[in-house]
Amino acid sequence: MLNSTLQPLSILALHGPNLNLLGQREPGIYGALTLAEINRLLEEEGFKIQAKVFSVQSNHEGILVDTIHAALGQHHGILINAGAYTHTSVALRDAIAAVNLPTVEVHLSNIYRREDFRHHSYIAPVAIGQISGFGEQSYLLGLQALVNHLRVRS
Ligand code: DQA
Repeated sequence: MLNSTLQPLSILALHGPNLNLLGQREPGIYGALTLAEINRLLEEEGFKIQAKVFSVQSNHEGILVDTIHAALGQHHGILINAGAYTHTSVALRDAIAAVNLPTVEVHLSNIYRREDFRHHSYIAPVAIGQISGFGEQSYLLGLQALVNHLRVRS
């Protein structure tokens, strides 16, 4: 396990399927920012709170699982927007449980105000908590909550 008393913390920001299309993808739901812009905001927020944020996006479930496995010993915690895999993927849920790294789940949209199939998250039971519905602020709030959790715990 990495020592989370050391500065800065290392955080993996993991983005799931279709989030590479942010900016052009249903902007009325997901906002106008691109993923690169969100990653930039995360880096800037991380700089303020002494956390280095490493961002990875994939449309492939197995790559997301591999990336979670590879986080062990490399990162102190995981910030994840699993996109549609939130609602379908036992494999992602099991990967997070397996590495046992503190994980915060985020969503741009409020998944509970949307279609019924978005109301269930396989990630939520293995996450510290979930932030949903605040657009790009969900990511920043999630990063703050994760870093605060890591610092308080250590
Ligand atoms: C999402 C919500 C999911 O239901 C959807 O499949 C996404 C994005 C969000 O950030 O609001 O791809 O995770």
